[in-house]
Amino acid sequence: MARITASVYTSHVPAIGAALDLGKTQEPYWRPVFAGYEASRRWFRDHRPDVVFLVYNDHASAFSLELVPTFAIGTGAEFHPADEGWGPRPVPKVVGHPELAAHIAQSVIQDEFDLTIANKMDVDHGLTVPLSLLCGQPREWPCRVIPFAVNVVLYPVASGKRCFELGKAIRRAVESYDQPLTVQIWGTGGMSHQLQGPRAGLINREWDNRFLDRLIEDPQGLSQVPHIEYVREAGSEGIELVMWLIARGAMADVAGGAKPNVAHRFYHVPASNTAVGHLVLEDQES
Ligand code: DHB
Ligand code: FE
Repeated sequence: MARITASVYTSHVPAIGAALDLGKTQEPYWRPVFAGYEASRRWFRDHRPDVVFLVYNDHASAFSLELVPTFAIGTGAEFHPADEGWGPRPVPKVVGHPELAAHIAQSVIQDEFDLTIANKMDVDHGLTVPLSLLCGQPREWPCRVIPFAVNVVLYPVASGKRCFELGKAIRRAVESYDQPLTVQIWGTGGMSHQLQGPRAGLINREWDNRFLDRLIEDPQGLSQVPHIEYVREAGSEGIELVMWLIARGAMADVAGGAKPNVAHRFYHVPASNTAVGHLVLEDQES
């Protein structure tokens, strides 16, 4: 049986990828950001899973506004870094896990969640920046990755409650896979940020930290928070945080097991226009 061993949560920002790719991680602006991930990089080396199920959002890179799936699972054998305007990032291609992805698709779809099947798609900073933050700059990514793209760009976006329920279904799917694989689930995007309009630059430290507290302690209650609160308190792009509830819904305690262990927590303002939040939660039984 496959099993979920841990969940990881992290913000993404294209400028973080650029700082790494251009060798700027030790500059005064960037040093504290990357320092906040050092413990996690060590943790990841020691807890390398067979597969990362990586929940992220595409930013009109693979999906233009002509076609916007609410949830799309990457079932392909490999996925290439997207060209977001400056050429693709110089990072390895992502090697998928088509068999596990196809199994999760059939299980989750029969469990009432209608996913889009993506056999071919490029992956943008939403996926590659979290990988870089946890894995550094390897020649190949150290494990297989199943990309799971969530629409948080074009309204209407799935509710926090739906995302949380989907996480539960993903856990059931992983646990019904007939191979002894270890799987981590990552929830990415956020925290507070707004990139446009009169409130551009908005950051809300208090709300973000309360979100982190509640994600750990009260994910069920947090899943009830309506979109309007994310947008009002965390800015228009703060809605990316609903993706964290998918990863949290897949943890053991939500299915009646023990509370997760908080292996790492980090918060820093700003990176580019965004508040950076990061959590590593380990399932205790794993
Ligand atoms: C920034 C943040 C994002 O989430 C994004 O997708 C693009 C840019 C930023 O802070 O610059
Ligand atoms: Fe984003």
